[in-house]
Amino acid sequence: MPIDPDFPRNHKVLGKHMHSDGEHYHYVWGPGKTAEAAENEEVKAAFAARGEEIAPVGVHGTMVAVDWDSCVADGACIEACPVQVFQWYRTEQDLPASKMVNETSSGTGSTVKEERKDYTDKADPVREHDCIWCMACVSVCPPQAIKVDQSNLEFHEKASGTFNESLSKGSAPPPHAH
Ligand code: F3S
Ligand code: F3S
Ligand code: ZN
Repeated sequence: MPIDPDFPRNHKVLGKHMHSDGEHYHYVWGPGKTAEAAENEEVKAAFAARGEEIAPVGVHGTMVAVDWDSCVADGACIEACPVQVFQWYRTEQDLPASKMVNETSSGTGSTVKEERKDYTDKADPVREHDCIWCMACVSVCPPQAIKVDQSNLEFHEKASGTFNESLSKGSAPPPHAH
């Protein structure tokens, strides 16, 4: 099952994955689902080798969103992105995916396709804010785990409490009082 294109409407914010630059962060949406990762032989073997359960973990990112329940650690997205939006999260913090909900990452993880820690790893859009909307990642992902939509900024801003309705509708900001 590919990523739900309406995930910001159908999911809730579970947490905030912070960037250690102190400025950027991406949201984590859940509850998630049982999908491709739970059916993939390489992924199942890797989880078994670690003694970790495959449980629903949800979606990381909002404008560049990766459904971690669908991601099977293929890495094509990581290779395709011209501005290194993604990193293999386990190459920076080797934690179970469920523990990444409110973590802080610095973006020092690997951005090389074949450097996944193992098949429990996931592409994390740690530099979502650098996306140039080229869409390369979307078309190369075998399970279609990625949704890129610039207009989802609205959901990011609503979750952040910075959403400005008048700006989003393209109308002029209210005139200044004199
Ligand atoms: Fe990279 Fe995908 Fe954006 S390839 S530039 S994250 S649309
Ligand atoms: Fe995962 Fe698809 Fe990227 S399977 S690592 S999101 S290409
Ligand atoms: Zn994340």
